[in-house]
Amino acid sequence: MVTLKNISFSYKKEHPLLNAINLTIHPGEHIGIMGPSGCGKSTLLKIINGTIEKERVKGEFSKSTELTFGSIYQNLDNQIIFPNVLDEIVFGMENLCYSKQQMDEKLAEVTQMLDIGHLLEEETVHLSGGEKQLVIMASILCLDVDVLILDECMSQVDEKGKKLILHAIKALKKKGKTVIMVDHDRTRLESVDTLYQIIDGNLKVI
Ligand SMILES: Nc1ncnc2c1ncn2[C@@H]1O[C@H](COP(=O)(O)OP(=O)(O)OP(=O)(O)O)[C@@H](O)[C@H]1O
Ligand SMILES: [Mg+2]
Repeated sequence: MVTLKNISFSYKKEHPLLNAINLTIHPGEHIGIMGPSGCGKSTLLKIINGTIEKERVKGEFSKSTELTFGSIYQNLDNQIIFPNVLDEIVFGMENLCYSKQQMDEKLAEVTQMLDIGHLLEEETVHLSGGEKQLVIMASILCLDVDVLILDECMSQVDEKGKKLILHAIKALKKKGKTVIMVDHDRTRLESVDTLYQIIDGNLKVI
């Protein structure tokens, strides 16, 4: 479904970053990626979701064309566009022309799952870091994409937020959705099928 063969990448020639990465992600698989700061975890996610164009990457990279992707990036502020939480969450569904009924159902389901009912009328600029992460997660869950790419999506939530997001990720597993997640904290990656680490530019199963 998503295959990387011998993928190498560097932003600057003199600083090789990822070196001969091999990775196959099967439909419905949940994978976790760990590794020290600066080792290239976010870069690898950007290669997989196409933020870094294929032409800039060495090696073979393929993904099924019919798949829909949704990404949560590490930098929260670039991902929130609207002044109001509700507008922020429904924007993606409006864009994909969901019916009013579909939107209402999805919004109710996701709001309950992440326990964010009390935030819907808030201004996004006033949200805490953890609240922003819950809102960004809610926006993406509403879209029912096939593959979710989550870059440290729980870095600012408290224990309750962590439990809610982990529960949402487990629900995605039941629905057969694929998840590729990066985190520094192993306890947030407990439910993955395969755990990898980037060491010296290489990806290894741990
Ligand atoms: N657009 C860019 N141009 C040049 N260098 C970059 C760019 N983006 C990232 N880098 C560099 O590439 C290296 C890997 O960055 P990346 O963000 O992939 O690391 P990471 O493993 O996700 O780290 P962290 O755990 O801190 O999030 C870092 O040294 C970073 O400074
Ligand atoms: Mg990163």
